[in-house]
Amino acid sequence: MHSPPAAAPQASRAARETQLRASGAHDNPASSASDPIIRVEGLRKSYRTARGELLLFDNLNLRVAPGELVAIVGQSGAGKSTLLHMLGALDAPSAGTVYCASTNVALLRPREAAAFRNREIGYVWQFHYLLPEFTAQENVAMPLLARGMGRNEALETASGWLKEVDLEDRGTHRPGELSGGEQQRIALARALVCSPRLLLADEPTGDLDSATASRVFELIERLHAGHGLTSILVTHNMELAQRCTRILRLANGGLTALAEAPQPQT
Ligand SMILES: Nc1ncnc2c1ncn2[C@@H]1O[C@H](COP(=O)(O)OP(=O)(O)O)[C@@H](O)[C@H]1O
Ligand SMILES: [Mg+2]
Repeated sequence: MHSPPAAAPQASRAARETQLRASGAHDNPASSASDPIIRVEGLRKSYRTARGELLLFDNLNLRVAPGELVAIVGQSGAGKSTLLHMLGALDAPSAGTVYCASTNVALLRPREAAAFRNREIGYVWQFHYLLPEFTAQENVAMPLLARGMGRNEALETASGWLKEVDLEDRGTHRPGELSGGEQQRIALARALVCSPRLLLADEPTGDLDSATASRVFELIERLHAGHGLTSILVTHNMELAQRCTRILRLANGGLTALAEAPQPQT
């Protein structure tokens, strides 16, 4: 074993800096490649209900590095969907910081939140939420039209995404003419058509049989790697969760690591 060189104060400061960043302890707002893309600190979320305050999280913390594919597991009602909603600026925290893709989403006004989602977040749910009266291609093009892209360009871009999810021959089908797995593939194409940095998926394979779930998950893995995404996936399927870089369990208002694989190179 070699001891570290003693007379290299600059180098050791740099090493300490790297260590602090890797440990997540560094709080310098200046960004660098190793900064977390998601940083949740002291998150509190409670709902007012007829039976009083329902406290879901009191002091939840989470850091996710760029390129990670994180699985979140936990019992029904633990707050997994609520957490994803707050990461994706669909719901506001009661207190705390939710820093996501260089934005403190807790501070966004509704219009800013909508623009943030369109730009940075791809969202997929258990149910596909495709619009039944539109074709697969039109459904995929929808977020581009919402951001003001011309129809022809949006449809052309959507067509490229149909290829990415291996459904170029289903562009003219309406959602009702597609299988469950195909509907989720189209939903994934729609989620990613605006080239977001983050993919948030809430039980995306929960409605599918195990063979189809595995194929849809393979597609998520391929899109995640191919597009340099950072992805958070809520799932009840431990087999699929084990294919992620990290598994976190949400229980009693907190996240605990179940398994950790080496951090991806950034
Ligand atoms: N808008 C709301 N108002 C009141 N309670 C809510 C609301 N949304 C969710 N909840 C409650 O918060 C808890 C967590 O919900 P959810 O995040 O959907 O859990 P999970 O996705 O882990 O199953 C549940 O008990 C649910 O009933
Ligand atoms: Mg849920």
